[in-house]
Amino acid sequence: MKILVTYSSLSGNTKLLAEAIYAALTSENKTILPIKEASNAENYDVILVGYWVDKGAPSQEAAEFLRKLCDKKIGIFATLGYWPDSDHAYEALKKGEDLVKDSNEVICRYICQGKLSDQIIEAFKSMPKDHFHALTDEKLRRYEIAARHPSKADLAVAGELFEERLQSICLKKE
Ligand SMILES: Cc1cc2nc3c(=O)[nH]c(=O)nc-3n(C[C@H](O)[C@H](O)[C@H](O)COP(=O)(O)O)c2cc1C
Repeated sequence: MKILVTYSSLSGNTKLLAEAIYAALTSENKTILPIKEASNAENYDVILVGYWVDKGAPSQEAAEFLRKLCDKKIGIFATLGYWPDSDHAYEALKKGEDLVKDSNEVICRYICQGKLSDQIIEAFKSMPKDHFHALTDEKLRRYEIAARHPSKADLAVAGELFEERLQSICLKKE
């Protein structure tokens, strides 16, 4: 089984998650590449795709990549600024899954928080008080918490989850 771990990451959070998942995979038949360099997806049986959440959805480059996949076993992972157990996070994962589920088999999903870039927080600071993204104390606290992620625990959980799911596929084939 040839495995590709591929990711779309602007500021590094999703790349970190991708690298932790890749490191946790015990298979020797594995490759990790940013999505930009993953033009040969047809050569793999399993593709684990990671993205940063952009306005509640997979980043554009990840969405374009996901749309093209066919007859693969797919894992989806993502990072976002909001709470990972929120409806918003669930929907952001589901939007990725919806892009592939009709022509592929989705085997695993994971989402965790990721630090918001300093630039985006600076942009929020200059927004008028009635703007949806205007900074409040509650939001600042959330951004401080998001800045601790992906945490060591997030990386460990994701690695274990994807490795175990891949083991279960190998066992099914035996
Ligand atoms: C343009 C932009 C849009 C974003 N939209 C959302 C969003 O809708 N929901 C959310 O929870 N986080 C959002 N974020 C936060 C990122 O998803 C989060 O910081 C993510 O971990 C970034 O991953 P990366 O470091 O791999 O690029 C947004 C960030 C940017 C820059």
